[in-house]
Amino acid sequence: MILVTGGLGFIGSHTVCALQEKGHQVLIVDDLSNSSVEVLDGIEAASSIRPIFIELDLQNSTAVSEMFQQHRITGIIHFAAYKAVGESVQKPVAYYQNNLGSMLNLLAEVEKAESPIPFIFSSSCTVYGEATELPINENAPVQPAMSPYGNTKQIGEEILMDTVKAMDGFRVISLRYFNPIGAHPSIAIGELPLGKPQNLVPFITQTAAGLYPKLTVFGNDYPTSDGTNVRDYIHVVDLAEAHVVALERILESKSIEAYEVFNLGTGKGSSVLEVIQSFERVSGQKLTYEIGARREGDVIAAYADTTKANTVLGWKTKRSLDEAVASAWKWEQKVRNL
Ligand code: WQD
Repeated sequence: MILVTGGLGFIGSHTVCALQEKGHQVLIVDDLSNSSVEVLDGIEAASSIRPIFIELDLQNSTAVSEMFQQHRITGIIHFAAYKAVGESVQKPVAYYQNNLGSMLNLLAEVEKAESPIPFIFSSSCTVYGEATELPINENAPVQPAMSPYGNTKQIGEEILMDTVKAMDGFRVISLRYFNPIGAHPSIAIGELPLGKPQNLVPFITQTAAGLYPKLTVFGNDYPTSDGTNVRDYIHVVDLAEAHVVALERILESKSIEAYEVFNLGTGKGSSVLEVIQSFERVSGQKLTYEIGARREGDVIAAYADTTKANTVLGWKTKRSLDEAVASAWKWEQKVRNL
């Protein structure tokens, strides 16, 4: 049974579909703090299998222990975490308590297991901060975190590195995502719009759906081709498939090191204006936007060097920016009954 924590979330739900499409049996635990139980119906519609679901707060060590006693867990993909960068600055204690406490409770169960359980960790390119070299490879220095959220990802990786050293046979892969966007081709699951979106693509689709009068582009005076920030926007289904490849890499004893890290991106940088142009191309409609002030904490540019993921992990993205943006728009139209 593969345990997917936070499996009702955006990337988690798409990964559950990819796992089930490859024949893996999945157990989802989720505390529903940033997701809804209806996503289970979406996963079933998208992959024709309804996974087992337990509503559970991973900060509750007793509940975590009971879950491991009731199910034979043979692999863990750990997504569950609070992930709003801005909110983490306002609520650092809650972020450290939840994001690190949850991981520690899981590792306490891994320690007790008769044989080590493969562990895939949802990390982030935010660990690189403003990288000095582009594209960014896995040897790029981890910079001091720009938020408590980013710090929980860095500390999470350090906890896993220490645990791997102490636990014979325990193998971990940390996956550092760039910017996940889009939705499953079935449009049965996508990025749930809970509250005002922080991220660019949901803000574009919600503006186009009429929820906001316009999009504000946070600055066009950066040293980039068109003055707007550059990011590596990766289709969430490509990202989900990478998690299955990483898990199977450990299950099939193909991992070379006990602790491995991979950057997951397309290897291509796209500016904010290029994403807007992509939306207008795929939707056939103009987007109303204005240029505003820079957003605190934004890095100028970040996009992945995908060499290691392509050659060592044996995975690469298959979907284009237009396909990802088009799927995000189709999902928005469905959610809003447009
Ligand atoms: C992208 C670009 C904004 C909204 C995210 C997550 C972070 C990490 C990496 C997981 C930026 C611009 C945005 C808007 C805009 N993921 N923008 N107007 O900041 O790269 O980080 O992915 O760990 O946690 O937050 O993504 O989508 O917020 O912004 O101009 O209304 O779009 O300035 O340049 P970001 P984003």
